[in-house]
This record gives sequence, structure tokens and C-alpha cells, in this order.
Amino acid sequence: MSQSAQNAIYPVAAERAAAAGIDADRRADMYRRSLDTPDEFWREEAQRIDWIVPFTEVSDVSWNKDDLHIRWFADGTLNASANCIDRHLPARADDPAIIWEGDDPTVDATITYAQLHEKVCRLANGLKSVGVKKGDRVTIYMPMVPEAAYAMLACARIGAVHSVVFGGFSPDALAGRIIDCESRFVITADEGLRGSRPIPLKANVDKAVATAGIVDKVIMVKRTGGAVDWDASRDVAYEALVQAASPDCPPEPMNAEDPLFILYTSGSTGKPKGVLHTTGGYMVWASMTHEYVFDYKPGEIYWCTADVGWVTGHTYIVYGPLANGATTLMFEGVPTWPGPDRLWQVVDKHQVNTLYTAPTAIRALMREGDGPVKKHSRSSLRLLGTVGEPINPEAWNWYYNVVGDGRCPIVDTWWQTETGGALITPLPGATALKPGSATLPIFGVEPALMDAEGQRIADSGPASGNLVICRSWPGQMRTIYGDHQRFIETYFSTYPGLYFTGDGARRDEDGYWWITGRVDDVLNVSGHRLGTAEIESALVAHKDVAEAAVVGYPHDLKGQGIYCYVTLMGGRVAADEDVDQLRKWVRQEIGPVATPDLIQFAPALPKTRSGKIMRRILRKIAENEFGNLGDTSTLADPGVVDDLIENRKNR
Ligand code: WTA
Repeated sequence: MSQSAQNAIYPVAAERAAAAGIDADRRADMYRRSLDTPDEFWREEAQRIDWIVPFTEVSDVSWNKDDLHIRWFADGTLNASANCIDRHLPARADDPAIIWEGDDPTVDATITYAQLHEKVCRLANGLKSVGVKKGDRVTIYMPMVPEAAYAMLACARIGAVHSVVFGGFSPDALAGRIIDCESRFVITADEGLRGSRPIPLKANVDKAVATAGIVDKVIMVKRTGGAVDWDASRDVAYEALVQAASPDCPPEPMNAEDPLFILYTSGSTGKPKGVLHTTGGYMVWASMTHEYVFDYKPGEIYWCTADVGWVTGHTYIVYGPLANGATTLMFEGVPTWPGPDRLWQVVDKHQVNTLYTAPTAIRALMREGDGPVKKHSRSSLRLLGTVGEPINPEAWNWYYNVVGDGRCPIVDTWWQTETGGALITPLPGATALKPGSATLPIFGVEPALMDAEGQRIADSGPASGNLVICRSWPGQMRTIYGDHQRFIETYFSTYPGLYFTGDGARRDEDGYWWITGRVDDVLNVSGHRLGTAEIESALVAHKDVAEAAVVGYPHDLKGQGIYCYVTLMGGRVAADEDVDQLRKWVRQEIGPVATPDLIQFAPALPKTRSGKIMRRILRKIAENEFGNLGDTSTLADPGVVDDLIENRKNR
């Protein structure tokens, strides 16, 4: 990156600062208060949520390994679905809650708050009628249709805990998630539709349910009408279920610390972790960050292009916007179908004011040139956002100048499944922007950097290191479902008393934060989080594979690509079809998101004398930076490395 690109600053326009809910002075004042008198700050901020029984105690947190607990607003009760729906009915019953844009550009629907209320109540009653009770886990494996949001909210309404699994995951991956949270109920659709291609969701569920062996009921929405197998003792038609159910379902009072949802995400080791979020703190965080980060004003049309299968869809398609009475756009399709101008066409069609998407989508659309963008007016846009991975300044500038015509600020929001919502992010009326920087922490968030020796780096002046957060915030995850010990070990053991994010970061001379990417064995491929360990265990599950090691490498479009080193059984030399076979295998085991980009067959992997694979070396070779491999003196067989370099795939 050139020095000038790094130093570019885009100040807040005076008109925007004046119109914004929060300008620079107010931001500074609120931030100071949030750290100096946190209980007072959060007591006030939590009033944005309707409490059934108001809380008296704000927070009770210990990040001490031996007594780790995180509780916010713990004696209050509330219901998330009532906060997202019922409380808006007096003023906004006929306002659009959800605008749904189908995969086919001629298909869309608008759901008002009154309609949302009826849909959610009917499904909530339907869930009860098939046996779902408070505390039960319900797996949601759905395409991007409004029923996905109804399903989440219906669970929340009756106190069931939803676990949404991205529709791009394989039957095996789905089964693993069903088993892990002992989910006896699944809500799905016959097929999904993306870029006119059908996705066999029900067939995948049938396989997953057979593997899991614990599912009592599968509720199926009819989306395409495609043929499905039907087990009348287990399968339930969504349409008949809701038709038979009452349109009135009183929301269940939930304790602030009752679970709202589980969402599986990849870590650096082992199987995916069931990140557990509870009700009160998460709702305060979702609502607060949605309002402040997007400077949301009533009546605006807000569009987050994520899938509800990821945390971004949870917080910024469903819970945040609906808690604020906003109109949230849900898009079933893909940005490149039927043409590369789909996003801009949708922006004009629905007069979208805020667009929130991922750098990988921006890079892909940038490749198509300015033409598809300029075909559409985009005059309704006033704010742009990005999330999921670092955005390179080239893509930032294109987003800013071409998509936003130089008049829309970009909020580059850094956060994680674990954090519930944005932690480091600009506020559009308050924060001058630097392309590629997530800028400054939001209220209550205290980031810091740790050095290689595990010491905290001084809190002022430019520095780089591992990113930690020093105090709890209400939207923080509470535990890993069923494995509290793993929660403690994963996040609070590297740096005792601090939350370790797994990311590296740099802080510049203005105190701005630049996220540099994961420092652990987690990959970020097109903004999707994947554990190298998961891909490795999928590979070694193949009968021909003796050993595998997976690392990331820089990829122009995806941010990171998946590079696999594979040793075949019995020292067999690989043939061309082995590559295809293994790619197919991983897709089948985990899902298309995990498809390897490059596979290098190797007679052996570089190991220490104690048998540990030296990933540092594998990473360097995958990055095509083998000139400086660092210390290789601990290798058991240094000759292995020459072969790896000679046959490297990324040149
Ligand atoms: C990365 C997605 C740079 C980061 C909300 C983090 C980012 C991981 C940004 C979490 C950003 C997310 N700039 N990197 N604005 N946002 N990341 O759990 O590495 O799917 O740890 O949550 O994505 O991914 P997750």
C-alpha cells in the first residue's frame, strides 16, 4: 500500500455531522462516559429495550479463569420478539418491516409489522403444537426467505433457542450441529434458489436427520415446489401448520440471561463451536449498534446483503433493524445474477438508503467495471457499510467513489460472531474515515494490543500486535454451548483477564485501528470463517489420504484462498483426478464454502523431530514467499521443504 493511500483521510461532511444523531463531540463524550461510568451508561442505553420486569443490576462480570461469568441486566425480563414486533404496532403496524427481494428480479414481497406479528404468532403457536418448549433447541436451515426471519422470531417468542445453520453447509455439517446442541426440531424449505439454481435443502435435512437420529419433527416451507421425500410421521408442512394455528401468541417473559440463540462458528482447533448469545445484552447491543453505526432514521430502507446463516444476518438483518422498527431488506439471490448490476438495480427498485455488504462482493463487482453501477441512479443511497474481512483500499475507493458517487460515508465494521455486533467502527456523523481502517471502538469497548511476549503494549502511539478487548460489553457471547471450559480456554487463557479476538491489528498515530487478519488457524474465505482443522479432518477422512495440512494464502477475490497439502496413502503418487475427487469430497463433507482452491500433493510434510507439522513453513510456501522460511533447523528432514517449494501451486 502506498504511503499516500494510508494517509488519506475523509473528514465528516458538515451537513452530515449536523444531521447525524451523533457528531464527533457527542461521540467523544459518550465514549468517555461509557468507560468512566459504565453502569450509568448502560443503565440508560438499555432503556431502548422494552423490559417486562426492569433490571436493577447492570453487570456482573468476571473474566478470571477460575470464576468466569458474564451477566448483564441479569434480574430483568424481556422478550426479543416482542421488542422486534409488538412494541412497534401502535405507531407502525402498516409500515414495512421486511422487504423481500426474490432470486428472480420480478418477484418480491413486503411484510408490514402487523403482518409480521401475525406470521410470527402463528408459527410460534405451530411450534408449540408440535411439541417445542421453552429452552428447546430448534435448528433452522433455510434459504433467504421471510420465513427464515419468522422462524427465528417465533423461537424467540416462545423461549426456544434457535440454531441457524447456513444453507450452504453439507448434510454432515448440519448433522454435527444438530447433534451438538441436541436439537429435536428442524425448520427448512423444500429447496433454496440462488442465481436460478435450486439447492436441495430438504434432501440435505433428510440425510442429516438420518445421521443425527434425534430429530422428532421437520417443518418444511414450500419454496420452489420441487419434489421431496416425505415421512408423514416426522415431516410437517409449514403452510398447514400455521394455517391451523392461532394468530395470537403472548410473548414468553425471558430472563435477560436466558439463551436467545446458538450459532456455530469455526475456531482454530476441533469442531465448530456453538457460540451462545443471551437475550438482554444481545438485544441492547444489536439495537444500539444498528442505530448508531448506520445512523438509522425512521422510515429509511436498510439493506444488509448477508445470509441469516451468519451472525451478520442475525444482528443486522433481523434483530437490530427490527428492534429499531426499521425496514429491513432481505435478498434471496446473488449479486451477479441475472447480471452484475443486480445490487444497484435492487437499490433503485426499493430506494435503499443504507447498503451493508462484504469486501469480497465489492471486489467481485469492481471487476465488472463501472458500467453496471452507472446504469442505475443509486440516488437513494446515503450510507455504505462493509463487514467480514479487511477491505483493501482499492476496493474501498471504488465503493466510495463509484458506488457512492463520493457522497456516502463507508462504515467498515469490525466484529465477530462472538461479539454479537460491531465493536470497532466509524459512526457516520462523527468519525473521519481512512480507507482500510475500521477506525475507532464503539461505546464501552476498550481494545488493546499484546506483544509477542504476552505483554500489553502501551495504550498510545502507533503499534502492532494481537488484538484483545479489556472489558465486557453487553453483546458478548456468554459461553460455548455445552463446553464452558472450551470457552474459557479459547478466549481468556492466552492473555489472562482479557478477551483474545484471534485477530492481529495495528493502531496508527491517530489511534485508528487497522485489522490485519487472523493470527490463528482460522481462515477467512470470501468473508466466511473456516477452521483449517475442519478442512484437514475432512481431507483425512478420505480413504486415500494419509495426511493433510491446510493453510490460507492471499487471493485477489476471496481475500484468502484455501491451500491444501496432501500426502496420499502408501506414498502413492497423485493423478490429475485426485484433485477433483478431493475437492468434491470436501464440498460434500463440509459444503461448497470450504472447497479447496489449491491442492499440492506431497510425499511428506515438514515436521519437527517431535512430529509437529511446521505450519509456518507451509504458509510461506503457499504465499509464494519461500525466500525467507525462517529457522528451519528444527526440521526432522530438511529435504522435504525443497520438494514442496519445487512443486508449489501458487506461482
Ligand atoms: C474478520 C463476522 C477486518 C476478523 C462479523 C474477525 C474483519 C472475523 C472485519 C469474524 C473488518 C470481520 N475488518 N476483518 N471490518 N469484520 N473481520 O465470526 O478476522 O464470521 O475475527 O463475524 O472476520 O468473522 P465472523
